[in-house]
Amino acid sequence: DIPSLKDVLAPDFTVGAAVTPAEITGDHADLLAKHFGSVTPGNAMKWDATEPTEGAFKYTDADAIVDFAAAHGIGVRGHTLVWYQQTPAWVFQDASGTTMTATPENKALLLSRMENHIKAVMGHFKGKLYAWDVVNEAIDETQSDGLRHSMWYQIAGPDYIADAFRTAHEADPDAELCINDYNTTVAAKRQALYNLVSSLRQQGVPVDCVGHQMHGNIDWPSASDTAATIEQFAGLGVDQQITEMDVSVYTDNTSSYSTIPAAALTKQAAEYKALFDVYRSHRDDISSVTVWGLADDNTWLDSFPINRLDAPLFFDRQLQAKAAYWSVVGDGSST
Ligand code: G3I
Repeated sequence: DIPSLKDVLAPDFTVGAAVTPAEITGDHADLLAKHFGSVTPGNAMKWDATEPTEGAFKYTDADAIVDFAAAHGIGVRGHTLVWYQQTPAWVFQDASGTTMTATPENKALLLSRMENHIKAVMGHFKGKLYAWDVVNEAIDETQSDGLRHSMWYQIAGPDYIADAFRTAHEADPDAELCINDYNTTVAAKRQALYNLVSSLRQQGVPVDCVGHQMHGNIDWPSASDTAATIEQFAGLGVDQQITEMDVSVYTDNTSSYSTIPAAALTKQAAEYKALFDVYRSHRDDISSVTVWGLADDNTWLDSFPINRLDAPLFFDRQLQAKAAYWSVVGDGSST
């Protein structure tokens, strides 16, 4: 019987996995309950899942995951309230079904829909989730203001971000409120996110936490860039969470294996160890580390950026522990 990942890492931080409703039954549920102290619904709490048409809220899948978590003493991270993907078209359309442009009326309508969504969804789960990704992927470091010029931004301007956090704080004052993004180890992106979080906090906007997604591969990112990122945000006094980690066996967008080479899995184990060593040495700044999937049999990377066999997680397609798992667990004693 192998050690429990969450028990080994408990002195450092909570360890979580993203899950789909299918993974809270059978062998997957056993694996989840043994090794993970936190779950993030991978899709079930997104806008297209929870409010596909205006005012008609649906929580079946999300409730199933939250109930499973409660029954097994597992914490839940909410993901995500305001994003530019997986958001139904109606959100950005006016009464005539036309995509909105930046007028004061449209801004007011969009923000009222956003506030209504945040209050309803957070209200539904109030007291059951320890953290929420309130705003997801708002940064575009190639823009002069560092912000993604998504539909949110185009219609409402940058104000939507502060408004989302203030509304979220009202809806569930006890939940930790995070801004979540990818590629935060890249210097320009890190700086743009830092500038935003720093400015929001100076204005008293309740941003409690920065979520680093940490989608990477067997060569990237480096431990030193990862440490530099954690250290820069630590200076703001925010909590940090690793929210969506995985380590692709591919380093380009085109190649594809029919069988994953052993050497790639060995490199993957080294990458997991290097980054977990960074997380552990910054345990005072990082409260949770979540991997984006339970096992290699269900990973978004099998269909991104192309359809191909990937293997980015701790457990293989038969749910067996991989070298990546052992590189983090070591001899199984907690630190
Ligand atoms: O719901 C439909 C289903 O009806 C249909 O039969 C099926 C056929 O393809 O597609 C289903 O929707 C898919 C959905 O996942 C649920 O499985 C979408 O096509 C697919 O695009 C969607 O992918 C999700 C992706 O976000 C969308 O952007 C991934 O599962 C999810 O893991 C991924 O997660 C994101 C985080 O939220 C934010 N950070 C990046 C991360 C990876 O992209």
